[in-house]
Order: sequence, then C-alpha cells, then structure tokens
Amino acid sequence: MIVVARPDSFRNRDVVSVKDISREELELVFDHAREIKKEPSKFRDRLSDKIVSIIFFEPSTRTFNSFDTAAKILGCRTVGFADPSASSYTGKGETLHDTIKMFEGYSDCIVIRHPMMGAAKFASEVSGKPVINAGSGAQEHPTQALLDIFTMRESFGKMDSLNIGMLGDLRYSRTIPSLVYALSKYDVRLNFISPESLQPRPEVESFLKSNGVKYEKSNDIKDSIKDLDVLYVTRLQKERFVDPTEYQKLKGSYQICKDSMVGAKDCMIILHPLPRVDEISAEVDSTKHAMYFEQARNGLYVRMALLDMVMGK
Ligand code: NCD
Repeated sequence: MIVVARPDSFRNRDVVSVKDISREELELVFDHAREIKKEPSKFRDRLSDKIVSIIFFEPSTRTFNSFDTAAKILGCRTVGFADPSASSYTGKGETLHDTIKMFEGYSDCIVIRHPMMGAAKFASEVSGKPVINAGSGAQEHPTQALLDIFTMRESFGKMDSLNIGMLGDLRYSRTIPSLVYALSKYDVRLNFISPESLQPRPEVESFLKSNGVKYEKSNDIKDSIKDLDVLYVTRLQKERFVDPTEYQKLKGSYQICKDSMVGAKDCMIILHPLPRVDEISAEVDSTKHAMYFEQARNGLYVRMALLDMVMGK
C-alpha cells in the first residue's frame, strides 16, 4: 500500500509508535525540522494559543527539556510535571486514566513518558487530544528515533545504503526498537554488536525478518568497524534489569575509546541517545566522529517540527 503523506498528515494525530509512520511522513517531519533548524526565529510564537501537557512518570533531562523548550519557542504554554512524586498519581493513588483525563481537559496535546510498556497507547485511547509518546518502558521512544534519523540524514544527505551499527544494551533499550522500526522503511544494513544476552528482543528480530531488513549480529566491534557509516551506542539500562547480578556481570563489558575506531571510515559518525555512563570514553568527544551532542540539539528542532505539525494550522 502506498501511503500518501499530506502536509497535514500529523494534524491532531497520536504519535505512539514509529511503526504507524510511513517513510513519506518521516520525510515530512525531517523537512520541516530542517526548515526550523535553518531559522528557528521564523517559527517563534506561531502556536501562541496552545497549551501542551508534558507529564513524565520517569526521570529525564533531554526529552523533558527539549519538549518544554520546543513548545515554548513555538509560543505554547506548558503544564505538567517532570517528577511524578509531585502528582496525585503517585502521591494519592490516582489512576493513569484519571490523570490523562485531567490533562486532556487542560491542554491541546499531551506528551507522556511512563515506565510501563503500553502506557502511551493507553493514554491515546483515553485522550481525545493528541498524545505523543516520549518513552514507554522498554517498548518504544519514537521521537528519539526521529531525531536519530534526522541527524544521520543531515550528516550523509541520504539514508539508503547506509551501514548502521548498534552497540550496547540492545535488549532493554527503548530507543533501539523505535530506531529499528523507523530504519526498516529505508534500504539500510544493520549490525547489532553486543554480548549475546543484550542482543535485540525476539519481537524486534521477528519484525526485522518479516520486513526483509538486512542485519548481522556480532559481539565484537572489530568485526564491523571498517564498514560502518553510523555507530549508535546505548548505555546499560540498569533500571530494567530483572536480575541485578546479570547487570553486575555486564557492567563495563563494552566501551568505545579512540582505539576502538582504528580502521573506521573518516565519515563515520557516533550517535548516542544520552545519558552516557561509561560506554563512550570522554576522549572520543573531541574526535570528528562524535556527533551525540549535535544529535541532542537536533532533538529540539525535530520536536518543534512535530508539535507544529500536530497542533498547527
Ligand atoms: C533514552 C531513554 O530515555 O530511553 N534517553 C533519552 O530520552 N535521550 C536513553 C537512555 O535513557 O539510555
């Protein structure tokens, strides 16, 4: 089926999973983000009659603040919380359903992060206002995938034929499934590099197989470094390990340093959704490959683009 992307494809739409977004629609977001990045001041205050709820039931630095800043540059007012202990949900036992109903009443769009898989989907079913998933347990983080691909596209001017390595905790990370689902719409080759127990979850692998995505697995970066255009690194998702001894065993089992990049292409970029713990050594920051701070900055433009497309005229 050919999905026709219209300029208003995102108006009033929930953004819960990247699986629901076609390649043409992804490109609309990227084109808009590019326009915004070129001249952010042109987009200032264009949603000054809108209110955005940002409700985070899990800690965040970048995602919360980039949504908050994006909304404010566009002129929206924001309500919500970054710390669930300040809400009745945690403090008084209010249900997620009722919390969503409150914010639906106060605002034009709800941005939600929650530790449970399925929470954003549930919120979108409860709310008549559009819901944007800012992270649902280990399941998905669609706006992170958008800014990850935007950064690759800005670096290479294309996506097709890129060779993309993903290194680290590919099992408990939610950025990996979203990135994989979004990349499956392009003609790319994926390399999963991690200890066996941290390879992508079975549902991600079966998605790859049923969508005919080319991929390889290895547990050593040396096997693939020379072929990679992108190296996407993730931290060990300590908070999601069911067994703390398993976490202790894997702690420190991978780290990218200058030496790991011997043989890499000159143009290879290193991405990381951040926060980083110890998986990329600080000496990498000053190399031409390090693109993760630029990637985090791009989050602002991509989230501005999305908010504008969901709530704009
Ligand atoms: C990621 C997340 O929350 O999943 N962070 C982010 O949003 N930039 C990655 C992580 O926490 O490791």
